[in-house]
Amino acid sequence: MLHTLKTLFAELYGSSPAIYRAPGRVNLIGEHTDYNDGFVMPAALDLYTYVAVSPRTDRRLQVYSANLTEKCELDLDSIPAGRSGHWSDYVRGVAGVLQSAGYQLRGADLAITSDVPLGSGLSSSAALEVSTAWALLSNSQLSASPTEIAQMCQKSEHVYVETRCGIMDQFISCHGRAGHALMLDCRSLEFELLPIPPDVRLMVCNTMVKHEHASGEYNTRRRECEEGVRLLAEVLPGIHALRDVTLDELEKHRERLNPVIYKRVRHVVSENERVKKAARLLIAGDLAAFGRLMADSHRSLRDDYEVSIAELDLMVELASRQTGVYGARMTGGGLGGSTINLVDADHTEQVRQKLEKDYEGKTGIKPVILICEASDGAGAVAES
Ligand code: GLA
Repeated sequence: MLHTLKTLFAELYGSSPAIYRAPGRVNLIGEHTDYNDGFVMPAALDLYTYVAVSPRTDRRLQVYSANLTEKCELDLDSIPAGRSGHWSDYVRGVAGVLQSAGYQLRGADLAITSDVPLGSGLSSSAALEVSTAWALLSNSQLSASPTEIAQMCQKSEHVYVETRCGIMDQFISCHGRAGHALMLDCRSLEFELLPIPPDVRLMVCNTMVKHEHASGEYNTRRRECEEGVRLLAEVLPGIHALRDVTLDELEKHRERLNPVIYKRVRHVVSENERVKKAARLLIAGDLAAFGRLMADSHRSLRDDYEVSIAELDLMVELASRQTGVYGARMTGGGLGGSTINLVDADHTEQVRQKLEKDYEGKTGIKPVILICEASDGAGAVAES
């Protein structure tokens, strides 16, 4: 991969680059809680986006995407805000936000390649944003903390892609640690690294149904949560986000919310409880109980938050029946994408084969099932 990227870079630009990378992620539990100031438990995956970079003397960015075999050019002195729908929005967005935050960027030649499948719910967008930010900053001999980079990348997605995402994906892409999941408090941004027991594997099942049109629904869910906060704050004046609401309070004031908003709020409030319990169970090594919380999380996303689809439900149901599977649920924003199974190490091959066969048998779609390692977050790629 790296050798090919270097060779490609030399052919494109006639120079030798520095290379930066940032991983995709899977979320073990805590879905649609991040933008409600709640809790999430993602792990960075051993699937990365790589950005090769070398400086230019002018103020232009030349960007080549090896996955799409397409080139584009940007002018650092004139970066228009807003979405165009082209993949370069991510690069333009990161450059735009870094510069408005006061980072004086140099012109650069860039080549990008990625193992994170697009639209798979594994956060290819954050991997692209974070690796680009790292490359552009280093190329300009500037630095920012991993948390600042995550926040700037999140902002670029709000302003240039027009998805009002939470902080989870960018944060784990910056802060991931090999062998660990990360329990993040999305309000304080304090986090705890939780070791993943060595005899457990992260099995990521891509349904191959892309979630590319999910951004509108995502923003709608976010507005529904804000509406829930607004209505509940009339009787619970101390609350700022759904993070501040308990299930008892929600039930007590349920008549203030229409049935849809009630369900959305119930998902978020119950999911936050599940993440907190799940963290304790992971520490205690109680994978069976952890898996039951994953099942509850999936049901809540399906029935209350309504972001699952038939293929995700099927993949979860097929996995839940297999010996050696502790838990299964959709992961990421939903409406397509992937599921995550926690699987006993001795059963992974057997489970993978069975799922591939049964899912294809029922849907006619060949899934892609990966056994992943929890990995390190973004950084420079060491010279080999
Ligand atoms: C997407 C967003 C995240 C998060 C998840 C749902 O991945 O980018 O911020 O909201 O959906 O948990």
